[in-house]
Amino acid sequence: MSTTTPSIFAPVSTPAFAIRELAFVVLGITAVIFIIVAGLAVYALIRFRRPRTDDGREPPQVYGSRQIEQAWTVVPLLIVVVLFLVTARYIYALEARSQPAAALEIAIVGHQWWWEIRYPKLGIVTANELHVPVSDPANPTPTFITLQSADVIHSFWIPQLAGKMDVIPNKTNRVWVDPKRVGTYVGQCAEYCGLQHAGMLLTTTVHSTEDFARWVAAQQTPATNDAHVREGRELFSSLACVNCHTVRGTTANGVFGPDLTHVMSRSTIGAGVIANTPDTLRAWVDDPSSLKPGALMPAMKLSRNELDKVTAYLLTLR
Ligand code: CUA
Repeated sequence: MSTTTPSIFAPVSTPAFAIRELAFVVLGITAVIFIIVAGLAVYALIRFRRPRTDDGREPPQVYGSRQIEQAWTVVPLLIVVVLFLVTARYIYALEARSQPAAALEIAIVGHQWWWEIRYPKLGIVTANELHVPVSDPANPTPTFITLQSADVIHSFWIPQLAGKMDVIPNKTNRVWVDPKRVGTYVGQCAEYCGLQHAGMLLTTTVHSTEDFARWVAAQQTPATNDAHVREGRELFSSLACVNCHTVRGTTANGVFGPDLTHVMSRSTIGAGVIANTPDTLRAWVDDPSSLKPGALMPAMKLSRNELDKVTAYLLTLR
């Protein structure tokens, strides 16, 4: 399961490879500093330990040395300048990458406490589970992502794919990834954004080209319209659900909460806080804060019978 370890030391995408390289450069420089400082400290401890023939007198004391002061000012300054220039070079190289025609475009909006994910050119809207194609170096299909916030500052971070990028209200930030290997990569909001900051996961599935095309086709189909859940669908349409949620092809067109057109294609509820099963879905509709304290969706105050019907309807949204 090493592919799912959210570690910057297991990169699978160009920006993440660059960050690991930079991390090794910084670790190398700081390791040399550590060895010198710790080595001198150990040397001084041994060399100048209290002699057996201690006569109680202090050794000669040294006050002020221009050379030493200059050295410990200039050398750290040079080290910081080198670290700054190396880092700036990496940042520039990543930001200079222009968007090729074959790139997939995604718009992500951070909310308290979930991620809205839009594929504007594909007509897909989903939440919390990002799906992108693998980018074969012979035929690169990178993904270019714009980041916006609906409320407070969040931070987009999928350690194996790219560095952190702040998600700021009234500003559009950009990040790109070109995953070289299919798999599932865990991401997380990386900027404290309120009570459920920790409950704001962003799992990324990198698909083969064919699998990604299949996923796109499935997401593009309108919501199912099963006759056997007609009652649940009508109930859903008559409730406040439709003010916040969209189910494509129905009158539900709210945008405050996640799009539910294919809610059952997602493996978790509440941005990764709990597995998406019939039981948890029902519990969520009943009272979201029982699963995710602070969640902005209110308890729907439905009777058990109504709860069963609405849940049965939602379960058909595959
Ligand atoms: Cu969103 Cu922390």
